[in-house]
Amino acid sequence: MRTIAVANQKGGCAKTTTVVNLAAALAEKKLRVLVLDLDPQGNATQWLNASGPVDGAFRLLTDTQPLDELIGNSGTPNVGVIAASQDLANVEKALAGKLAIDSILKRRLSKLAGTSWDYLLIDTPPTLGVVTLNALVASKELLIPVTTHVLTLSGVAQLMALVAEIQEVLNPELEILGFLASRVDARTKHSKEVLELLTERFGTQVLSTVIRENIRLAEAPSYAMPVIEYDQNCVASVDYRSLAKEVIRRRKE
Ligand SMILES: Nc1ncnc2c1ncn2[C@@H]1O[C@H](COP(=O)(O)OP(=O)(O)OP(=O)(O)O)[C@@H](O)[C@H]1O
Ligand SMILES: [Mg+2]
Repeated sequence: MRTIAVANQKGGCAKTTTVVNLAAALAEKKLRVLVLDLDPQGNATQWLNASGPVDGAFRLLTDTQPLDELIGNSGTPNVGVIAASQDLANVEKALAGKLAIDSILKRRLSKLAGTSWDYLLIDTPPTLGVVTLNALVASKELLIPVTTHVLTLSGVAQLMALVAEIQEVLNPELEILGFLASRVDARTKHSKEVLELLTERFGTQVLSTVIRENIRLAEAPSYAMPVIEYDQNCVASVDYRSLAKEVIRRRKE
């Protein structure tokens, strides 16, 4: 199983959009994908029309309940969900006094080894707190969405510093799967400049797939459907299928 955290503490940089639509595009290729929603906002949980335990992610971090009891279905075949709930915002308090709280998720997810899930995709909140730290310690790969709407690279530098520290101290296996340029509008000079800057700074770590600005991605959550179900031929569906192919190709295991 490949474990991929999708993180960037910049709010609204398309983390959730990436998790939901990459999961659906991988599942379309008959891969079994488990989505772990670690954001108390629960956007991925809602978008995937999750059924089953409503606070799976919180219990995963704070409880000892068996993992398989925390996994629910989504509206998409081959996609399972561990659902987020508001109480994830209080994880830090709930874990006060416990040992090694940065690696709780890693220990809990070790039970997934040998199960039939091909991918675990982790959606994270727009903070670098204990929850995101757990995601980075538990993952082998990190996918970093960057919107080209606004210049976001200063936040990326902070994230990379944290990643370097985690690699040194807590999780030497963590690798950058790639930077994913999102909301790319080829008509604007600004979008092009950000993309160029990203490539200059991070070279081949920037994925060759880019996700273009597409209104269907803003519409699809209201219908609780990944975009490839909502409008299978739109630009966004083409882009996320291309992302799935590239992610499969860039295997780190
Ligand atoms: N390619 C795109 N085209 C158009 N809109 C997009 C695209 N990607 C994302 N969006 C929109 O941008 C907004 C932010 O996206 P999203 O919720 O995925 O970001 P996020 O990083 O998960 O945010 P948060 O940090 O709050 O969790 C949403 O309204 C989403 O619909
Ligand atoms: Mg989100």
